Amino acid sequence: MLVAYQHTAVLVALLLIPVLCLLLSRRRPYPGIPIAHFERRGLQKWMPAKFAFMQRPGELLSKASEQHPNRCFQVAAASGYKIIVPNRFANELRNHPDLDFNEATAKDFFAHYQGFNGAGVFVGAKDNIVLDTVRIKLNQNLDLITDSLVDETGEAFRNVFGSGSNESPRITHIKQHMLHIVARLSSRVFLGKAFSRHAEWLRIAEQYTVDIFSASMLLHMIPAPLQPLVCCFIPAYWRLRGHLRGARRLIEPELYRRQPSLECAEKPARMEDSLSWMEDVAQGRSFDYAAGQLGLSVAAIHTTSEMATKAVLQLCENPEVVAPLREEIINVLGRESWSKNAVAKMHLLDSFLEEVQRIHRGGIASMHRLVKRDVVLSDGFVIPRGATVLVRECLDYGEPDWSIFNLQRHMNMHPRVRFTSTSPANMGFGHGKHACPGRFFAALELKIVLCFFLLHYQVAFLPGEGRVAEIEFEHQLVTPPDIRLELRERQPEIALL
Ligand code: HEM
Repeated sequence: MLVAYQHTAVLVALLLIPVLCLLLSRRRPYPGIPIAHFERRGLQKWMPAKFAFMQRPGELLSKASEQHPNRCFQVAAASGYKIIVPNRFANELRNHPDLDFNEATAKDFFAHYQGFNGAGVFVGAKDNIVLDTVRIKLNQNLDLITDSLVDETGEAFRNVFGSGSNESPRITHIKQHMLHIVARLSSRVFLGKAFSRHAEWLRIAEQYTVDIFSASMLLHMIPAPLQPLVCCFIPAYWRLRGHLRGARRLIEPELYRRQPSLECAEKPARMEDSLSWMEDVAQGRSFDYAAGQLGLSVAAIHTTSEMATKAVLQLCENPEVVAPLREEIINVLGRESWSKNAVAKMHLLDSFLEEVQRIHRGGIASMHRLVKRDVVLSDGFVIPRGATVLVRECLDYGEPDWSIFNLQRHMNMHPRVRFTSTSPANMGFGHGKHACPGRFFAALELKIVLCFFLLHYQVAFLPGEGRVAEIEFEHQLVTPPDIRLELRERQPEIALL
C-alpha cells in the first residue's frame, strides 16, 4: 500500500515539476506598455503569444504601429517581451551608453552555454578581442587583402559554377552557392589559403550559424529552469558542440605552428590574417581562438551571403541594370588594376547594393539592445532597465516612389552617402556605436563577387517564375533556401584575374 502511494507521489511530482517550471518561468510583459497582438480565437488561445511574432511579424508590427502611431509598444518574442521603438528615436538611441548590443544577442543565443561559445566571445565589451580585430585590424588591412579576395573569388567561382565556354544555361541553387563562395572568401581572409580550401573547416564555418539559430529557437520553447537539462536532447546542440570540437582540432595546431620553437631558431613567417590580428589585440591575454573564429563566422558569413543572394535576385528582377553596371566595372578595371580604391570608384555598384538593401531589407527592426539602466526618451517614455529593445526600420524613406527599385537613387539623392553609411533611414548594418564594424569588408567582398558574377554570367529567373517572398522570422527577413535560377556563362569583356 505504502509503495503504491510512493509511486503515485513520484508520478504527481514528475507531472507537476514541468508545469510549475512553466508557470514560474512565464515571461511577463512590461507593465503600462501596450502589447501588440492578434485576436486569438478557438484553439489559437492555447498557443503561446510569441508565435504571432514568429510567424507574422510584419503584419503584427504594422497593425500595432497603426494602433500606437509613433509610440513604443511591446511584442512577445521567443526569448521574452521586446519593446519596439519607433524609427524617429533611432538617433536618440544610437550612441546611448546604457544600451548594449552584445548582451541582447547573448540573451537570445544562450552565449553562456557550452557550444554557443561563438556567440559568447562578443560578450564583455571591455575585453572584446573579436570586435577590436574587426574594427581595427581588418579595417586597416582592407587594401592588403584585396588581392587575396580577388584570387579566391576566381577560384571559388570555378569551383562552384564550373568553368569553360558552355553556352547552354544551367540551374543554380543561388543561396547555397553564395554561402559557399562567401565562406571561402571569409576563410581566406580570416585564416589563410589552406583553410579557405579545407572542406571540414568550410562545413563548420557554414553550419555553425545555422545550428546556433536552430538550437536557440528550440531552447526558447522550453521553460527557462529546464533549459540546462533539456539542451542535451537537442540534436542542433550536439552539432554545435561538435563544431566547437572540430574548430579546436583545426585551429589549435595552426596556432601552435605559428609559435617560435626551440628546435628551429628561425621565427615562422607572420601571416596577415585574423588569427595573427587576434593575437596582436589579445596582447598575451588568454583567449579561446577557436571560439573567436566561430564568432567571426557567425557575424560575417550568412549576413554577407544573404546580401549577395539578394543582389543576384535583383539582377533577375531588374535586368536593365546589368548593362550599366558592367560598363562601370569595365571602365574602372580596364584603366587600373584591383585595389580597394579601384573598387571604391564603382559608384553605380555601390548605389545598386544600397538600393538592394533598402528595398529587400534584412529585417523589419534593427538596433537590438539590452537596456542596462532606465532610458528616458524625449517624449518622456521610460524604457525600463533589463528590457530588450528593437528600433523599427524606416518604411518610406520620405520618397513618393519608395517601392520602386531605382539604380541611381542613392547617387542622385546623397552623392556622398555610401552603401556602408548608416542612418535611421537605412539600418541594414544597424546604426550608432554598435553599427556593423565588418561592413567595409562586406562591401569590398560583395563588390568583388559581383564584378566576377556580372562579367562572367547572365542570370535569370527560371521560365515562368519570379521573385518569391522572403521568409519572416521575428524581426528578420531571409530569402528562402531553395531558390533556383538560370545561369548562362558569357565571355567577359576584360580579364579579371
Ligand atoms: C552584408 C553583410 C553584413 C550585414 C548585413 C551585417 C549586419 C549587421 C548588423 C545589422 C549588426 C548589428 C548592428 C546594430 O545593431 O547597430 C551587425 C553587427 C556586427 N557585425 Fe555585421 N553585417 C554584415 C557583415 C559583417 C562582417 C563581414 C563582419 C566581420 C568581418 C561583421 C561583424 C559584425 C560584428 C563584430 C558586429 C557586432 C558589433 C558590436 O558589437 O558593436 N558583420 N552586423
